[in-house]
Amino acid sequence: MKKLIVALLILVCCFSVFANGASEKSTKTRIGVAMPTKDLQRWNQDGANMKSQLEAAGYDVELLYAGNDIATQVSQVENMINNGCKVLVIASIDGSSLGVPLAEAKSKGIPVIAYDRLLMNTDAVDYYATFDNYMVGTKQGEYIEKALGLKEGKGPYNMEIFTGDPGDNNARFFYQGAIDVVMPYIKSGQLVVNSNQIEFAEVATADWSSEKAQNRMEAILSSYYAGGKALDVVLCSNDSTALGVENALDNNYKGAWPVITGQDCDIANVKNMIAGKQSMSIFKDTRTLAAKVVEMVDAIASGKTAPVNDTSTYNNGVKVVPSFLCEPVFADVNNYKELLIDSGYYTADQLK
Ligand code: BGC
Repeated sequence: MKKLIVALLILVCCFSVFANGASEKSTKTRIGVAMPTKDLQRWNQDGANMKSQLEAAGYDVELLYAGNDIATQVSQVENMINNGCKVLVIASIDGSSLGVPLAEAKSKGIPVIAYDRLLMNTDAVDYYATFDNYMVGTKQGEYIEKALGLKEGKGPYNMEIFTGDPGDNNARFFYQGAIDVVMPYIKSGQLVVNSNQIEFAEVATADWSSEKAQNRMEAILSSYYAGGKALDVVLCSNDSTALGVENALDNNYKGAWPVITGQDCDIANVKNMIAGKQSMSIFKDTRTLAAKVVEMVDAIASGKTAPVNDTSTYNNGVKVVPSFLCEPVFADVNNYKELLIDSGYYTADQLK
C-alpha cells in the first residue's frame, strides 16, 4: 500500500512538472532571430547576445543562421512565421531579397526589426537597430587623415580602398563616410590611388569575403606596387576585408607596413593590431545593440512604440525606417584592453 502511495505521488509530481513546463512554454512569446552567417565572428556574438538577452527577458527564441545563403534565409524566415514567432529580428544577407516572407509577416501582423543591416525595398519593416554606419566610415577616414598628417598638408601617400558587399546597405554608408573625409585629399593629390579603383563598385568585396579581398589586394600589388613602390595606407571598411589585405601583404609585400583600418574588433584582427599589422578597428559592442533590440521587442510586445533616435537617415527605397543608431567606438592598440578585456567582451587569453 505504502509503495502504491509513493508511486502515485511520484506520478502526480511528474505530471505537474510536465504540465507546468508545457504551460510555461505555451505562454512565452516566441521571437525569431535570423542571422546571416556563422563564418564571421561578429554574427556569432550578435546571435548569442540576442538569444541570452531575449531569454533573460522571458521570451522563447528561435535563432537561425543561414550560412550566407539567401535562399536558406528566405525559408528560415518563412519557417519562423509558420512556427508562431510574434516578432522577427532579421540581420539580412542581402537586404533586398526577403520581400516575399516579409510581405507574409506583414499580412499576419508580425512586426519586423531590421538588425544591423537595413531591409530594403519593402514596407514590411517596422524598425531598424544598428550602429551609426556613416560614422563608422567617418572615423576610419579621420584616422587616416590624422595618422598621415593630411590636414597639415603632408603627402603624397599611396592608398588603396576595400569596402564590403554591394547587397549590404551598410557597405555604402561605411564607404561614403570614409570617402567624404579622404576625397579632398585624393583631389589635392595628397592621397594617390595607383590602381585608380575608387568608385564603390570597383572597391566592393562580395560577401565581405577575406579571400576575395586577399585576391584583389594580391592583383593590385603585382600590377601597381611591384618594383618597390610603397603602399602607405589601405582603407578597409571592416575586419574581414582587412584580414584579407593583411594576408596578401604578408605574402607579397616587402615595404614598410601600411596604415590599415578595420571594423568589428574580431579576435584575429585585434591580434594583428597588437602585432602592429592593423592600425585600428571600430568597436561595435554587440551587447549594446542586443540590449536595444530587446527594448524594442519589449515595447512592441506591449503595444507601445519602440525607442528610436533617427527618423530621417534610413530610407529603404519604400519608406524611411525609424531607427536607433548606437555609437561606434574607435579602438587601437592603446585602448583595446580597456574596451575589450576590462569590459568582459573578450578574455585576455582569447587575444593571446
Ligand atoms: C556589419 C559589419 C560587418 C559586415 C560583414 C556589416 O553589415 O555592419 O559590422 O563587418 O557586415 O559581416
